[in-house]
Amino acid sequence: MNTNSHIQHGLWRHPAAQQADFNDVRLWIDLAKTLERGHFDAMFFADVVGLYGPVNGSYEVNAREGLQIPSNDPAVLLSALAVNTEHLGLAFTSAVLQEHPFDFARKVSTLDHISNGRIGWNVVTSSLENAARNFGFDRLMEHDERYRWAQEYMDVVYKLWEGSWDDGALLKDKVSGVYADHTKIHKINHVGEYYQVEGPHLPSPTLQRTPVIFQAGSSPAGRAFAARNAEAQFILAPTPEIARTTIDETRALVVEGGRRPDDLQFFQGLTFVIGSTEEEAKRNEAEIDEYISTDGFLAHINLGLDQATGTPLDPDMPLKDIKHEGGQSHTAWLRATMTDREPTIRDLAKITARIRGRFVGTPEQIADHLAVWQQAGVDGINVMNWTIPQSYELFIDEVMPVLRARGLAKQESAPGTLRQKLFGRDQLSESHYGRQYRGAFGDRS
Ligand SMILES: Cc1cc2nc3c(=O)[nH]c(=O)nc-3n(C[C@H](O)[C@H](O)[C@H](O)COP(=O)(O)O)c2cc1C
Repeated sequence: MNTNSHIQHGLWRHPAAQQADFNDVRLWIDLAKTLERGHFDAMFFADVVGLYGPVNGSYEVNAREGLQIPSNDPAVLLSALAVNTEHLGLAFTSAVLQEHPFDFARKVSTLDHISNGRIGWNVVTSSLENAARNFGFDRLMEHDERYRWAQEYMDVVYKLWEGSWDDGALLKDKVSGVYADHTKIHKINHVGEYYQVEGPHLPSPTLQRTPVIFQAGSSPAGRAFAARNAEAQFILAPTPEIARTTIDETRALVVEGGRRPDDLQFFQGLTFVIGSTEEEAKRNEAEIDEYISTDGFLAHINLGLDQATGTPLDPDMPLKDIKHEGGQSHTAWLRATMTDREPTIRDLAKITARIRGRFVGTPEQIADHLAVWQQAGVDGINVMNWTIPQSYELFIDEVMPVLRARGLAKQESAPGTLRQKLFGRDQLSESHYGRQYRGAFGDRS
């Protein structure tokens, strides 16, 4: 995330950490080049558009920890990264709340042109009260309604990206003096519950038309949304077995919706503490643990405080007694892992701070571990960092050669668009929901 402290709170103070200087574009350009050198498919930015915590609560912890405040817009940053890289996919998060779909579609097409088709979009609905208030709402919309809203947002952007311009509309013909053929450019005339958009889309189609669609919610509504729209889903399963169940269930929905099972790929978030021996890895882990901020983790999970008053909840309170409209994946996963009793707030803080996605070991042990995730059906991993850029430098220099030798990672960066790298095609598959809008507006408009 384009901020100081994204997930691993407190680590910005680690001697190797440079993320405190995230305002400096060189940090990100250098990191993007490192990832490209390491043959990563993509660099992904998370984002939020508000503060964590109760609406009238203090944000002293957030500011003290640099916990997602201050933060900068990842989409703006991507244009700098696009011109400094050639192969790396560039994915960012944008919530349906934060931008009108007409303008958002235009911004993404512009980025996709600048990068020659390397853009991915992580669609989120935003579960932060403060974010809702930043965009003119009194309160956060109810969980499942947020997904209905998101679906209409998707319809608008698909209509613009897929349907507004036919192939061959852009001529750039200096001899005839025709730049673009208006008969192949269509208004979309969208009228829905949340938006009215006439069109046409202002940019001409990009190599991908629609950016690669990422999604990260695992609630029933989130999975249904992913099954219809997403091409890649981020998961944070606590074990490979739980990943397998999540993947199988979501893939079944994908197939029910008429898509092929591998039209949706799954990326597990993991984070590594690497050592050349097991002892060294454990020493590195102990060093990391010295910097972890429990205050930061509790403020981040957004559940440790009463949402009305901002006062701390009893840490022994069972999770099932907490009423909230925020994200539900974390609590659902914790319930699935802790089968002997109902987990509490204290359990959640502990697992989030200490266990989630962490693997400690030598490069060979990491490769063994990743083979298990692969067997569970995971298509790829999202390497979450402790320190920028060191977490990635170590992974690329020490782990990637072992993964390549074992056939667990690609030998080279595939050229071309991000969708080409992941799926071997530039545009949405024929059976994707968004493709229904291709050619849909010609006669009607
Ligand atoms: C790996 C991962 C990355 C995520 N990135 C973001 C993000 O950048 N911004 C955001 O608002 N939510 C992010 N989320 C939260 C999800 O989009 C979603 O809101 C959350 O998982 C709750 O959705 P659910 O109730 O459908 O499970 C992320 C979740 C995961 C697992």
